[in-house]
Amino acid sequence: MTRDNALGDCCLTHARAGEFCAAMTMAAFVRLLVCVGPNCDAEGQGRRLLSQAQAALAVAFPEALADGRLKISTRDCLRLCTRDPVVRLEPSGDAFADPDIDDLTREIGAALGETCN
Ligand code: FES
Repeated sequence: MTRDNALGDCCLTHARAGEFCAAMTMAAFVRLLVCVGPNCDAEGQGRRLLSQAQAALAVAFPEALADGRLKISTRDCLRLCTRDPVVRLEPSGDAFADPDIDDLTREIGAALGETCN
């Protein structure tokens, strides 16, 4: 995959077509809210998910974390209580209960515009 916007291509598909991917031309901002409230963290699940997300996102999006385009925050209750830990993405508002870390990483990548659709 090529991500060189100066040359007019952001991914293999668009490089062939010689066009920009619109998602790559805007600086997106994403905040991951991880609930560590009494229901989500009843057995340490919320803080375990927070730790896993921090580790995975630090590997996947170090630049976005460093420049503030991606932030990770905790909340005491997102008012979406289930038996599983809950996260929500902003600004989309998409919420996930007990998300798979790889799936969550892909969602965040798409929201950041670091993947082409
Ligand atoms: S305690 Fe996590 S959503 Fe309510």
